[in-house]
Amino acid sequence: MSFLRLALVASLSASTLASGPAGNENYQFQARNSLRSLSSTNRLNVRGDLAPVGISIEQTSYTFSIQDGTDDKIYISPAGDKFKKYSLSANGRGSLKQEVGGAIMPVTAFDVTGQSQVTCDTMGDAVSKYLSADDVWNEAFMQTILLKSDSPISFSSDLHECLSTHWGISVVLSTAQTQGSLQGIDIKTVSGQDVPAGPYIASYNASSDTVDLTEVFRLYRDQEQAFTTPLIPFADGQSFCPLAAQVDGMNTISIPVPSRLYTKYLADPRPLEGVRVAVKDLYDVAGVPSGLGNRAYWLTYEPRNVTAVSIQRLIDQGAVIIGKVKTSQFANGETPTADWQDQFSPFNIRGDGYMDPSTSSAGSGASIGAYDWVDVTIGSDTGGSVRDPAANNGAFGIRPSHTAISLEGVMPMSAPLDTAGFLTRDAKEFAEFGKAWYGDRFESYGQKPKTIFVPNDYFPLPADANPGAQPIYDSFIDSLQTYLNASIDTRSFADIWNSSGTMDQVQQTIPLFLNETYPTLIGYYQWTNFGKPWFEDYASQHDGRTPFIDSQPAVRWAYGRQRGESGYQEELRRKNVFKDFFSTHVLKADNETCTDALFLYPINTGTTSYRNGYKAPPQPPFGIFNEAYAPFHEGPEISIPLSQVPYNSTITNHVEYLPVSVAIMARPGCDYVLLDLAAGLQDAGIISATQTGSLTYPLK
Ligand SMILES: *[C@@H]1O[C@H](CO)[C@@H](O)[C@H](O)[C@H]1NC(C)=O
Ligand SMILES: *[C@@H]1O[C@H](CO)[C@@H](O)[C@H](O)[C@H]1NC(C)=O
Ligand SMILES: *[C@@H]1O[C@H](CO)[C@@H](O)[C@H](O)[C@H]1NC(C)=O
Ligand SMILES: *[C@@H]1O[C@H](CO)[C@@H](O)[C@H](O)[C@H]1NC(C)=O
Ligand SMILES: *[C@@H]1O[C@H](CO)[C@@H](O)[C@H](O)[C@H]1NC(C)=O
Ligand SMILES: *[C@@H]1O[C@H](CO)[C@@H](O)[C@H](O)[C@H]1NC(C)=O
Ligand SMILES: *[C@@H]1O[C@H](CO)[C@@H](O)[C@H](O)[C@H]1NC(C)=O
Repeated sequence: MSFLRLALVASLSASTLASGPAGNENYQFQARNSLRSLSSTNRLNVRGDLAPVGISIEQTSYTFSIQDGTDDKIYISPAGDKFKKYSLSANGRGSLKQEVGGAIMPVTAFDVTGQSQVTCDTMGDAVSKYLSADDVWNEAFMQTILLKSDSPISFSSDLHECLSTHWGISVVLSTAQTQGSLQGIDIKTVSGQDVPAGPYIASYNASSDTVDLTEVFRLYRDQEQAFTTPLIPFADGQSFCPLAAQVDGMNTISIPVPSRLYTKYLADPRPLEGVRVAVKDLYDVAGVPSGLGNRAYWLTYEPRNVTAVSIQRLIDQGAVIIGKVKTSQFANGETPTADWQDQFSPFNIRGDGYMDPSTSSAGSGASIGAYDWVDVTIGSDTGGSVRDPAANNGAFGIRPSHTAISLEGVMPMSAPLDTAGFLTRDAKEFAEFGKAWYGDRFESYGQKPKTIFVPNDYFPLPADANPGAQPIYDSFIDSLQTYLNASIDTRSFADIWNSSGTMDQVQQTIPLFLNETYPTLIGYYQWTNFGKPWFEDYASQHDGRTPFIDSQPAVRWAYGRQRGESGYQEELRRKNVFKDFFSTHVLKADNETCTDALFLYPINTGTTSYRNGYKAPPQPPFGIFNEAYAPFHEGPEISIPLSQVPYNSTITNHVEYLPVSVAIMARPGCDYVLLDLAAGLQDAGIISATQTGSLTYPLK
């Protein structure tokens, strides 16, 4: 019996074992994959400046690759005291220690509780289930299996041949008493900690005389350059070790993603158990510094000791934090050429791959559009920073009602406007995740809103929209009207404003009245509450020097200083005048539906925004823009993808496709009306989940 062993340094040659005859298994047999080790010291580099004192993943982790067809899958298994491990001791037949020896050994744990007999079929079913449920687990981990059960198990007569021919298994570990033999296969009874299902690396620890199973993470390439810091949780699950690992040929950092099997079969899963989440790099995560898109800022402070309240809430509910993703600087709006001066803008994979990912949750948008190994990305939204990246990258995104969740431990932009939002590719996951995160802060309603605002300032679309977009909106609005059994109101915003009485009071149109509101609320607030104290800390560390900041925040902060406290108070007053107007005349309270109406506008019409296009020099964001209405009236807004449209790319000289998205606004507190709506529209087949990659949907 031969099985491959992983030696730590020696490179094992890949050897493919011949597959046996098909037998009676009812699963798809796949050619057995081979494991080979990488030299841990050469292939993975830990940036010493990032690693917390005393921790070097390089010294305490196993790295290896699995050749799966043409795909070279790279893995890391962090070992040592700081990381999660399960210790086993062999107290039955045979010595586990001898088996592992000085090497390491791949193991797969299966839960066979309730099965009195383990057969080739039950193993085959489990293997098929694992393969379809998880992108990390691989049959290469079937060199040793651990069968978990609390009652005695017996083996079917076909099991020996099945295990040895299909997977070359020569050792079976079992936590239960076993009956029957497996001929040449060594069966060892082990005891120790309960091990969740999934892949592990086993190693023998002489000082504790135990065999320790460490968790396995697959390392993914971050081709779109969306991440700033990959993270591996320490054993307590509460703080994180930055893994600045780079695998040869990747040219980017590598993101560690744990097996989904660890959490998939838990008896009592928490609401977000195993959901893989990437977090915008302006939320604090314990163990790493917060970068906020600025190099000088990243160096100013120690790693954070406390995770932001909102992110802690995700961790407490079982979410897996896999890394931090890029924000444009201090969450200010930036376009790739040439605003991203201190950090490189992530790539938007849609279409030709050279569109602006939008901002400020640029990494959140780019990663959700590109990586099927990421489930949800956390962004923040002050004036469109979740909704626009969601629209540009073909994803669902929400800006919740103001005060939906605590922003403690999050960089402020403008406290009256800041919110914590997120992005997904699936409307049902969108609703489930939102309800788990925002909790009982909001309610669902049995009845649906009765009116849809489709203002004639937005529909029909402007001339620069992609010609394919108008029919998509027409068809969506028709379907939405039928779905809600609602009436359509096409009055323009200006009409409603002019006839509201607010106009009589302020004697100004909306664009004039609110012209300087947004730039003042962000510029003054962020400079006063964030920029100024940081400049002082930086100066005291650097002999009075000033840190570098990108031109966009520089211009906005300078404008904020110019407006001062009295300007800020005046603009806050104007924002609140608008809020009163909006909640009295546009989206009104309704006991049965929460919001009597929904307000629609087109948020991505499939127009191109090439990342190599030069824009005008920065200036404060004067004027009113669509994305500002929700923040000004403090209500929720979702951005949902509807379809995709073709365009002739000037990059590829080929037809490519860009997503088309709509924004839908509701009254403050009616967040779940929007989440339920998105999920309901997907159930009804009116919208669908998006896929990763250049195409947001498969071509029909
Ligand atoms: C081995 O066990 C000892 C004693 O429990 C422990 O201090 C040490 O960290 C372990 N080594 C590893 C690599 O886990
Ligand atoms: C974290 O705690 C350590 C030890 O108490 C302290 O030195 C450090 O300044 C703290 N870091 C931050 C960002 O507060
Ligand atoms: C749709 O709404 C109208 C009036 O608003 C009502 O009379 C009708 O019964 C509703 N139809 C359905 C299917 O609920
Ligand atoms: C609203 O009122 C302003 C100021 O009187 C006027 O210029 C504008 O045309 C009006 N808009 C509409 C749609 O009535
Ligand atoms: C908005 O304010 C800026 C700065 O004061 C000014 O330059 C611009 O003309 C104003 N725009 C409108 C439409 O009033
Ligand atoms: C809504 O509920 C409140 C409180 O129960 C009640 O005072 C109000 O009259 C209700 N409004 C409508 C339109 O039913
Ligand atoms: C692309 O360009 C060709 C040639 O000008 C034109 O016929 C075609 O309609 C264009 N396609 C799209 C999607 O714009």
